Amino acid sequence: MDNLIREEIFHYAKEWVLEAGNIIRNTIDDPLEIGTKSNPNDLVTTMDKNTEKFFVEKIKTTFPDHLLLSEEGFGDEIDSLDGTVWIIDPIDGTMNFVQQKRNFAISVGIYQDGVGEIGLIYNVMEDELYTALRGEGAFKGEKKLSPLKEGMILEESVIGLNHLWLCENRLVDEKVMQQLVKTARGTRTYGSAALEFAYVAEGILEGYLTMGLSPWDIAAGMIIVNEVGGVTTNIDGDPINMVGRNAVFVGHPDVHNRIIKDFIAKGRK
Ligand code: IPD
Ligand code: CA
Ligand code: CA
Ligand code: CA
Repeated sequence: MDNLIREEIFHYAKEWVLEAGNIIRNTIDDPLEIGTKSNPNDLVTTMDKNTEKFFVEKIKTTFPDHLLLSEEGFGDEIDSLDGTVWIIDPIDGTMNFVQQKRNFAISVGIYQDGVGEIGLIYNVMEDELYTALRGEGAFKGEKKLSPLKEGMILEESVIGLNHLWLCENRLVDEKVMQQLVKTARGTRTYGSAALEFAYVAEGILEGYLTMGLSPWDIAAGMIIVNEVGGVTTNIDGDPINMVGRNAVFVGHPDVHNRIIKDFIAKGRK
């Protein structure tokens, strides 16, 4: 992607993310229509849908040849990342949005022929914007994020994962995952994949492990994490399928390596 064009796209993307976030903040206490999708805990609100429509409208008007892959179905039907594709989660962490009115994010990743070029993750209520352009480092607001610390060990790491890994599950023996939790310094569950990626990039989580995510959950995060030297794979250490669902593992390279080798590989079903 030409650098000038990329700058221009980034400029618009940033403006729209901040504008969408502002609308959400200003209407956070308004009554919400809450529906469910695949199960009673899989929530969707009018805000998820309206925010997605906001992006579709802006993108289709300004860049009519760009495509959109997004959660709530107002984008394009896509089975490859050919061309310029915006991968958008209008609200990542809808349950947090509904129940807590915080700890949710807007996530926008822009890919050119499958290569992640621009990533933005906006923690709306904290007004914290994480961004990256491929090859130019990652930022939190105006501050450049440092490359991940060398020589990090699991025993001093904080890992993002949820309790389901510790219950019987279809992917990894829960006893092995219990060992992982005991070996790490600590664990956290934030409930927004995009924010957990941002925290890995920021160096405040050394890893984040999750059973099933879609491209819009991770598209921006992968670009941002990559810029500070983090690694994103599926839980077997293989490349992510960017047009499907994956069990995702993002982290500091040393910790990522250790967790796959000493834990997941030993307990993988
Ligand atoms: C969800 C969040 C959550 C993760 C779920 C995702 P949504 O996204 O990222 O943290 O555990 O798997 O689906 O539905 O709130 O955009
Ligand atoms: Ca959802
Ligand atoms: Ca999501
Ligand atoms: Ca969402």
